[in-house]
Amino acid sequence: MVTERQGSPKPLIGRLVVVGLGLIGGSFARGLRERGVCREVVGVDLDAESRRLAVQLGVVDRSEADLASACVGAEVIMLAVPLLAMERVLGQLAALDLQDAILTDAGSAKGSIVRVARAVLGERIRHFVPGHPIAGSEQSGVEAANASLYRRHKVILTPLAETDAGALATVDRLWQALGADVEHMAVEHHDEVLAATSHLPHLLAFGLVDSLAHQSDNLDIFRYAAGGFRDFTRIAGSDPVMWHDIFLANREAVLRILDRFQGDLDQLRRAVAGGDGHHLLGVFTRARVAREHFSKILARRAYVDAMHSNDLIFLAQPGGSLSGRIRVPGDKSISHRSIMLGSLAEGVTEVEGFLEGEDALATIQAFRDMGVVIEGPHHGRVTVHGVGLHGLKAPVGPLYMGNSGTSMRLLSGLLAAQPFDTVLTGDASLSKRPMNRVAKPLREMGAVIETGPEGRPPLNIKGGQALTGMHYEMPMASAQVKSCLLLAGLYAAGQTSVTEPAPTRDHTERMLQGFGYPVQVEGATATVESGHRLSATRIEVPADISSAAFFLVAASIAEGSELVLEHVGINPTRTGVIDILKLMGGDISLENQRVVGGEPVADIRVRSAKLKGIEIPETLVPLAIDEFPVLFVAAACAEGRTVLRGAEELRVKESDRIQVMADGLIACGVKAEPTPDGIIIDGGPIGGGEVWAHGDHRIAMSFSIASLRASAPIRIHDCANVATSFPNFLDLCAQVGVRVAREGQA
Ligand code: S3P
Repeated sequence: MVTERQGSPKPLIGRLVVVGLGLIGGSFARGLRERGVCREVVGVDLDAESRRLAVQLGVVDRSEADLASACVGAEVIMLAVPLLAMERVLGQLAALDLQDAILTDAGSAKGSIVRVARAVLGERIRHFVPGHPIAGSEQSGVEAANASLYRRHKVILTPLAETDAGALATVDRLWQALGADVEHMAVEHHDEVLAATSHLPHLLAFGLVDSLAHQSDNLDIFRYAAGGFRDFTRIAGSDPVMWHDIFLANREAVLRILDRFQGDLDQLRRAVAGGDGHHLLGVFTRARVAREHFSKILARRAYVDAMHSNDLIFLAQPGGSLSGRIRVPGDKSISHRSIMLGSLAEGVTEVEGFLEGEDALATIQAFRDMGVVIEGPHHGRVTVHGVGLHGLKAPVGPLYMGNSGTSMRLLSGLLAAQPFDTVLTGDASLSKRPMNRVAKPLREMGAVIETGPEGRPPLNIKGGQALTGMHYEMPMASAQVKSCLLLAGLYAAGQTSVTEPAPTRDHTERMLQGFGYPVQVEGATATVESGHRLSATRIEVPADISSAAFFLVAASIAEGSELVLEHVGINPTRTGVIDILKLMGGDISLENQRVVGGEPVADIRVRSAKLKGIEIPETLVPLAIDEFPVLFVAAACAEGRTVLRGAEELRVKESDRIQVMADGLIACGVKAEPTPDGIIIDGGPIGGGEVWAHGDHRIAMSFSIASLRASAPIRIHDCANVATSFPNFLDLCAQVGVRVAREGQA
């Protein structure tokens, strides 16, 4: 059947010659021909049947057995022959008068082809654009030629220093016309990457199947081989001749990665032989996370492709009331600390209720990168195999903290005292946040830390410094700075003490004590001294009051609501949101109060209430520091004016929360006036509107809640980071009656 040509009326090039009419060459020819990209597509193949089929199937306009006659008047010549045939074909081409024809190829290894091309093409190397489409399959032959084979597949071009820019642009355009994602790479880099990601796995698959097939009981092995064997060895069904060519062509790069892998395999063997479960668990947990990470990267790419942007939009419908009992996810601050202290402890720490949000996962990843074996999280359970205060290992690259200021600031204290260097990086939001607040006092203790411009990330921390304890009067009320210095103090000579200007969350002090590390707390000053040890323990992470806060406000403002939030941490350094809502007239009561693992916990019952505007007492600011975005929503629903002062810290959170909330509230018709250190909000009707969360999780969730009292839908842009602290926010909203969903999925 001949496929009709479609697509662009004006061809991009004149004559295209495709040498080698297998799956790769045939699909290239067919795709371009069907799209009308070339005036004529000519195929060349040694096999008469392939030539005949290629014409019959509409893969090419005509086919030739003789290379020389096919190439007369060619504008582009694509070589899609087996790797070991490239030398012969290039040699034949070099003898022809090709004028300015562009040569390109589709070989899976580039170094060997480029060597041959340089040797035979001479001056004409300028017209050669080496390439490699990553789109093979176990199918082969021109019968399998598929015009869409390259759609959304990567094609790597490896231009040389002398490659003509026009030739490169033409080859780029041809692949793009087929829907491929074209990337450029150096030849050597291509061969290294492919040796690792494609060639080595094929070698292992072929090798394993052959090795098992040799065994005398092979029938049983194959009969009982279940999913694992099948999945691992799928690629052993690939074309043996093609792969034989690849290993001969890319020998050096394959040998390098093979040697590295062999070393790791030897270590695994030793671990199995010696019963070293710790080593095995380390390899398996790291591999599992790495695998998930790759899948996410790939999935995200697909999502971005589909939406043409990475803006995750929440659409919140107006009205509704709340009812039911829910447990919000684990406390973020405590989750971070459980991993940090668990890693530094001696023995195995079991954590329950761990927050499986991206911020806390960044902390887990950082410690894994420093050699700590961490199992999970799985349904909130994490097992940390502590390495002791002096057991961390140098990470191989920068530690990526994502969106998490807590990870970066707390870790900087710990890392300043390690024997190795580290680099801490973060996402766009974290990269704007101030780090001098930790770098400066740490330097006073003897740390060597470089920041980016204006004290922003990345942090370059030089290891091997002897720190000295000191007393530090914190200029701002920050639990992150306090915790950072206390962690550095575990390693500093003598005592380290920190005095805070106002009470801030004290989870670090409590948890250090829970791990058996002495901490003195006298008034506003916390003191540690080095020389003690942390012993592994069990940690039950309570539900995060900062996440519960969205529902405390939601049930308060939505008429006819009654909701119970279970097992919420009510550490007195965190309950400012309850105090403020009560001052505004909120109907909130604590039930079933208890202490779990050193932290007070309660079930919180909240009923709707008529809220009134207040002047928020400044003493409550550090105790509700993360809850202000949603408290501003409460203020917008209250009768009268609410005034916040003394909260300039809000300007340097994940976004400038004063400005961003004011902008959003104003967009929804609320009277809000930002001030340098706070905001003035006049309660009144909320309309609908379009607002921007600026990648700040708490802003996105606050406007979702505002919809309960809105008169029209609120569309909230840039919500992806809700996953940093509250991955199941939308599910819980649906469960209790808040009507917010991803746009397009409501
Ligand atoms: C945190 C402390 C607070 C808070 C942050 C978590 C912590 O920051 O805003 O979300 O876990 O120590 P500051 O201490 O900088 O105010």
